[in-house]
Parts: sequence; structure tokens; C-alpha cells
Amino acid sequence: MMKNTPTHYGYIARALHWATALLFLFAYTAVYYRQWFTEKDTAINWTALQLHLSFGVTIAVLVVLRICWRWSNVQPTPEPGSALMHKAAHFGHLALYAVLIIMPLTGYLGTGVATEFFFWFEIPKFADTWLFQLLIQDWAGLSFEQFEVPMDFIHKEGGAYLVWLLILGHAAAALYHHIKLKDRTLLKMLPPR
Ligand code: HEM
Ligand code: HEM
Repeated sequence: MMKNTPTHYGYIARALHWATALLFLFAYTAVYYRQWFTEKDTAINWTALQLHLSFGVTIAVLVVLRICWRWSNVQPTPEPGSALMHKAAHFGHLALYAVLIIMPLTGYLGTGVATEFFFWFEIPKFADTWLFQLLIQDWAGLSFEQFEVPMDFIHKEGGAYLVWLLILGHAAAALYHHIKLKDRTLLKMLPPR
């Protein structure tokens, strides 16, 4: 089934969810491989960075598709639970969507090199765009070096602590539903049998 039903996420929603999860894993692996296992100014250091940027940009594209798809679809009915649990799930998912938007955005805006998208085509860095000229340079009167500071702060501190803790909590909640509560929460996100 392509579309969601009241009892299951459809093929498209599941593909987008699990592709995003995989891309997160790849984006983290690439950036920490670069930081922990490569020397500055080597080819592998550059490749790892460019892979991080490429995975991140892909996540940004997928989240746009995902939000459009969500709006044009029914949502599976939540499993029975307390009002508090439903609220927690709701705000948890909202926070994950915020991460899916804010991380690629701050990453792109704060990066001083162009993205060589999987070494296939080039996406200009933000500082080279007319939007940067208009909004940041002319209107706000900031140089890229000034503008970059808050972007990097959100991206790096967020990415290093908040984001993966949120994802860990999310995955733990899914397992808690499956193993402890024995409800259909996780099954709804898996291929139907
Ligand atoms: C959801 C998508 C993304 C996630 C989860 C993510 C996560 C991270 C993390 C965890 C770090 C390392 C933080 C640290 O230094 O402790 C990082 C660094 C970085 N990210 Fe991202 N990022 C994403 C997307 C992007 C995008 C789209 C770009 C640019 C187009 C980007 C550019 C960078 C840059 C330049 C660094 C610094 C690399 C370094 O110092 O080695 N990121 N990101
Ligand atoms: C092993 C890792 C993961 C597992 C087991 C998992 C499991 C699930 C499950 C079971 C749901 C359905 C929840 C419900 O309908 O109440 C869900 C929804 C969701 N997941 Fe994950 N997930 C994982 C990773 C991720 C990652 C890495 C992200 C993004 C950063 C993410 C973002 C979301 C979002 C935004 C929703 C809400 C979908 C919606 O209702 O529109 N998940 N996940």
C-alpha cells in the first residue's frame, strides 16, 4: 500500500522514515570518521566532509518530501495510551521534525565550502548566493565570519549532544512499545505481513 491507512504507515512514509534514519547514521559516521580518524588536509579528510554534506543535503530534500506527503495523507491511529504518553509522542515527533529541518539548514548556512554532492554536481556555498548578499550582508550587515558563529554553534552543539539523545530516546520508545507494551507502534512502521 503506497498511502498510509488508519492501521499502518504506507510504503512511501516507511521508505522516507527508514531512508532518513540510515542517512543520519551515515552523516554521523562520515563526520566523526573525519574528526577522529583522518589528518587535516588529506584527500580522505575532504571526502569524509563532502560525504557528510551530501548525506545532510539529502536529508533536507527528504524532509521536504516527507512533510508534503504527511499533509496529503491520513495518519495511522495512535495505539491506546494515557493522554500524557500521546502528548509525549506528539512533541517528540515534532522535535524530530525540527531536528530534520534545523540540522541541515544550520549545516548549510554555516559551511564555508561548496557541497560537491556525492562528487556529482556542485551546490554553491551559502556565502556565494544572492540571498546571503541581500539578507546577511546588506540587510543585517554581517560578514560570513560573524554569521557563521551562531550557525556552527547550533549545528555542532546540537549535533554532538541534543540530536542523538533525542533519536536514542525515540528508538528506545519504539522498542519499549514493542517489547514491554506489546502494541503495534513499531509494527506500523515496518512492512506489513
Ligand atoms: C541532518 C543532517 C545533519 C546532521 C545530523 C549533522 C550533524 C553533524 C555533527 C554531529 C557534526 C559534528 C559536531 C561536532 O563537531 O561535534 C557536524 C559537523 C559539521 N556539519 Fe553537519 N549535520 C547535518 C547536515 C549538514 C549539512 C547539510 C551540512 C552542509 C551542507 C553540514 C556541515 C557540517 C560541517 C561543515 C561540520 C563541521 C565538520 C568538522 O568540523 O569536521 N552538516 N554535523
Ligand atoms: C532505530 C531507529 C528508529 C526506530 C526504531 C524508529 C521507529 C519509529 C516508529 C515505530 C515510529 C512510529 C511512531 C508512531 O506512529 O507513533 C516512528 C516515527 C517517526 N520517526 Fe522514527 N525510528 C527510528 C529512527 C528515526 C530517526 C533517525 C529519525 C529522524 C531523525 C526519526 C524520525 C521519526 C519521525 C519524525 C516520526 C514521526 C512520523 C510521523 O508521524 O509523521 N526516526 N519512528
